[in-house]
Amino acid sequence: MKIKKTGVALPAIHEMGRKIQQLSAETGQEYLFLQRGINSVVNIDLSEVVKDINFNSKEIQTYPPSQGRAELRDAINNEYFGGKTDISCISICGGGMPGIDNAFQIADVRKIYLPVYHWGNYHNAMKIRNIEYDEYDSFDNLKKITPELKDCAVLLGDPGNPFGNKYADDEIFAMIKKLNDNGTVVFYDSPYRRVFYDKNDDFYTRLLDIDNLVILDSFSKSLGLSGARLGFVHSKNAEFNHEMAVRLAFATNGTNAFAQILVEKLLTTEIGKKAVTDFKTATVSEITKNIKYLNESGFIANEFYSESVPVGIFAIVNISEDELLANRIGSVSLSKFTLSRKQEAAKYSRVCVSVNHKKFVDFFENMKAK
Ligand SMILES: Cc1ncc(COP(=O)(O)O)c(C=O)c1O
Repeated sequence: MKIKKTGVALPAIHEMGRKIQQLSAETGQEYLFLQRGINSVVNIDLSEVVKDINFNSKEIQTYPPSQGRAELRDAINNEYFGGKTDISCISICGGGMPGIDNAFQIADVRKIYLPVYHWGNYHNAMKIRNIEYDEYDSFDNLKKITPELKDCAVLLGDPGNPFGNKYADDEIFAMIKKLNDNGTVVFYDSPYRRVFYDKNDDFYTRLLDIDNLVILDSFSKSLGLSGARLGFVHSKNAEFNHEMAVRLAFATNGTNAFAQILVEKLLTTEIGKKAVTDFKTATVSEITKNIKYLNESGFIANEFYSESVPVGIFAIVNISEDELLANRIGSVSLSKFTLSRKQEAAKYSRVCVSVNHKKFVDFFENMKAK
């Protein structure tokens, strides 16, 4: 069979996971898995919520609508948009990644600008789809090059991956508005935001006035459900939403109804909301303590946080991947998150800070003591 090769490699995180598991088995020693991109403080406790789901129902056992179940889109409207959007603007996807991949294909732009340091999946998705890539350095840089960005798209992530950094909301809003007014499409990818916020957060509602904007979100991080493969895309553009529905219909035949009903229950029932609150409270508490520890112990790479602040679920430390590994800490070299600055990035690593605080400190203190 002849193969149409993309030349795209599998994610580095998987390689590192395999390496650490092997080292741990060989040495019999415990390793700290900070290479991963998931909240690992606690699991969300679904035991009460699942009792409320009728697995024998028609809703679960038949095809869901291609844009997603109306009940879940209603729940998202209430939870994320203060009930102020129209559910025809919301499409449910099998996680954040398919939303990103489809949105990148649908927007007719000259090229997509990613941050110099970005989640590799964006660029790989673009490479698979033959979409032209360019990069920007900072918000300051974006402001300077705005006129060049007409008919292009810009990806903004907040909190971002790999930095786990958060800009002030007014600053992101102003940036999105400036780009929108310039005729630039903004992909606002924000699957980490709702780890730190709840229904009272009105940021997405504020964004409803902006036309050239696609909001990309996922339940993988905010509900700890990366296995459920569920996310959503919001756009006010009817043609965009039509194309999204067509792609979801003919590329996927709709998104898993089990997952949709589970998330709907988590967003709308008292038992579900409690499970979500408990998960987020435990998670954010440990993340906050871990970031504070990295700051106080001088491990945080402050040079990357001049415009924004580290909030998690990741942070960049001024220690190389090899040095961390020698101290039984898994991480991903920052060099894996950039195409243009690999050499200077190699002395830094991205660590996941969404893990048990005591264990986190024990491993880093152990490294310090050597
Ligand atoms: C920045 C960013 N966006 C989107 C996603 C999408 O996640 P998922 O496809 O699991 O929903 C991830 C996952 O790691 C991510 O890091």
